[in-house]
Amino acid sequence: MNNNISNGVKKIVFSGVQPSGVLHIGNYFGALQQWVDMQDKYGCIFCVVDYHAITVKQDPRQLNKNIINTVRAYLASGINPERSIIFQQSDISAHTELAWILNCIARISDLNKMTQFKEKSGDSRENVGVGLFAYPVLMAADILLYNTDAVPVGEDQKQHVELSRALARRFNAQFGHTFKIPEAIIKKESARIMGLDNPAKKMSKSAASPANYIALTDKPEVAAKKIMRAVTDSGKEIKFNIVKRPAIANLLNIYALLAGKNIKTLEREYAGRGYGDFKKDLGKVTGEFLSPWQKKYYSFSDEEIKKILKAGAEQARPLAKATLIKTKKNLGLI
Ligand code: TYM
Repeated sequence: MNNNISNGVKKIVFSGVQPSGVLHIGNYFGALQQWVDMQDKYGCIFCVVDYHAITVKQDPRQLNKNIINTVRAYLASGINPERSIIFQQSDISAHTELAWILNCIARISDLNKMTQFKEKSGDSRENVGVGLFAYPVLMAADILLYNTDAVPVGEDQKQHVELSRALARRFNAQFGHTFKIPEAIIKKESARIMGLDNPAKKMSKSAASPANYIALTDKPEVAAKKIMRAVTDSGKEIKFNIVKRPAIANLLNIYALLAGKNIKTLEREYAGRGYGDFKKDLGKVTGEFLSPWQKKYYSFSDEEIKKILKAGAEQARPLAKATLIKTKKNLGLI
């Protein structure tokens, strides 16, 4: 058993990624990198949220591969299964059980407010699956099952974590103290990496075109090409202005994160030089990040990953069960 978590000394971190496509640098900087840094201080639980992925259509074979590859990305980024629990959501039935219970206290008006649902359902709001609508309730169940203190995520998930807090409070008020109130942890600089083809929208795994993102598995030369083709603003200066020049601001932000440099320093380095130079260098810096990451990524076998998931589920299951039993007792089900 992972002592960090079972002995109750350390605070608990819970987070997850949907295995719904290739992971990109937005996922890395918004989530994975933060997770790695939190492993010292917290007891960490990292989930592959496969039930969330099926809220939109998935090819079964590809989904199966994506589940394994998501774990592979966790490991390549530095998540250590000896220190953190890594598991697959659908392996622990308490997640869907608690989601059902929380569905009974969540209101349609709560879910109607969710920006991500509005974006994902678009004009076909009446025709998307019920699962897509109820998705944030399952996310609340994920978080609340583990007495989570902190949820490190990108900006786009903030509203969902807030809903988890609201549901926990509402449940506690009606049925007695059951859930800890979790807090979202969002890193300012990496909270929202925008699409290379459209800096008005976030970089996304499910984007229509791969030109939208730098996948963590893109070959360095492919990533460099995507950067050269990335949308730029009018004007020539390499200056950070998120409102007037969102495209170059996004690229500057990515550069700063990849190179571990300050945006002001980059502005100075590129003063009087054009986009061409800047993008070429950004391509190089990206390759220098991707190459060692990918070497690690490809070093883990499927078998190894399956073992990690199995061991992780065995560690997480009793924790989830304890919360579920407490919840059922407070509801009068037991
Ligand atoms: P998902 O799979 O869309 O994204 C995984 C993580 O990556 C962050 N992220 C980004 N950060 C910065 N810039 C971007 N362009 C960007 N795109 C994605 C997300 O904020 C997220 O942290 N609902 C969640 C998964 C989930 C979850 C949970 C997370 C399910 N249950 C419980 C935390 C706790 C999602 O769809 O993330």
